[in-house]
Amino acid sequence: MSKEIKNVEYGLEKIFEGAQDFLPLLGTDYVEFYVGNAKQAAHYYKTAFGFQSYAYKGLETGCRDYASYVLKQDKIRIVLTTPLNSKSPINEHIVKHGDGVKVIALWVEDARKSWEETTKRGAKSFMEPTVEKDENGEVVRAGIYTYGETVHMFVERKNYKGTFLPGYREWKSDYNPSATGLKFIDHMVGNVGWNEMNATVKWYEEVMGFVNFLSFDDKQITTEYSALMSKVMSNGNGRIKFPINEPAEGKKKSQIEEYIDFYEGPGVQHLAVATDDIIQTVTELRARGVEFLPPPPQAYYDDIPNRLGVHMSIMKEDISKLQALSILVDADEDGYLLQIFTKPVEDRPTLFFEIIQRMGAKGFGAGNFKALFESIEREQAKRGTL
Ligand code: FE2
Repeated sequence: MSKEIKNVEYGLEKIFEGAQDFLPLLGTDYVEFYVGNAKQAAHYYKTAFGFQSYAYKGLETGCRDYASYVLKQDKIRIVLTTPLNSKSPINEHIVKHGDGVKVIALWVEDARKSWEETTKRGAKSFMEPTVEKDENGEVVRAGIYTYGETVHMFVERKNYKGTFLPGYREWKSDYNPSATGLKFIDHMVGNVGWNEMNATVKWYEEVMGFVNFLSFDDKQITTEYSALMSKVMSNGNGRIKFPINEPAEGKKKSQIEEYIDFYEGPGVQHLAVATDDIIQTVTELRARGVEFLPPPPQAYYDDIPNRLGVHMSIMKEDISKLQALSILVDADEDGYLLQIFTKPVEDRPTLFFEIIQRMGAKGFGAGNFKALFESIEREQAKRGTL
């Protein structure tokens, strides 16, 4: 019987053995970036990535301290927040880290219980359970710190019918570039410092009840020059996946170390967003000015049939089209996947995006690591940070 191959969105039926159920997570709720100029950042994410105007909070809604623009594309919600005066603590975050991800918000049934269960297990609180209300109902939010100054916010919205969160108003804009086919967040990767990966993994196991379901050591993720180590953490239903990277010794500077130097600490390295049609999505993103890492050499594409093996027969995409767009291909026992990485989306070489199309495969493109990292190193060399 042939196995159905589809773009996998992990279902509730997939409970990883060993994962704890004291923190049931329904999905990613939103990702909040602290940025120097939210108005301009919003324009970039609309124009370049095809996000849609969704909600707004700022002076016009009575918020005197900061402005937040919420953008949406299918199931993805990003919030771009900027301070409105020098006294806001948001400034300190931007001065230190530059633009970057502050909050990975998780959608939960019970935000109070999520905060209690995690702080009881050692999480440092960012925000105690707080009820926010407006005419559309109420939302309960609570937050804890994860690696560096990054935060997990628990969002309970079962009693809310409004747009996004209380305090926001619907954002209607006259400028509405079309979507680019981005559907949901597949995974979000954190970079931590030297010798910090295992402590972070332990934190996710003990505080969040996650399991470590994939590991890559520095023998697997290495090039002639640099290396890194990575462990993938997942919650019980497999909907939330956080790979954690740490630098490893090589002849030259690891890309993770470069990130840590420029972000000035641990933080979110990349957001991987899923599409059903990567050729269409990447064609569109390129036309709108999104910059991607340069392509691997010809030999990489010549070797694809070899690497895909049995999955070659179900591969629908034309290899020459993938090559023309610099899209990478990898396979595991369950199928194949297509992926591509943007260059950093700010001037510091920190946060970037991955576009991924899963055709059965559940991995993270381990077979592409070498080709990919050589490409990243060529970019590091241009920046003088290799
Ligand atoms: Fe990734």
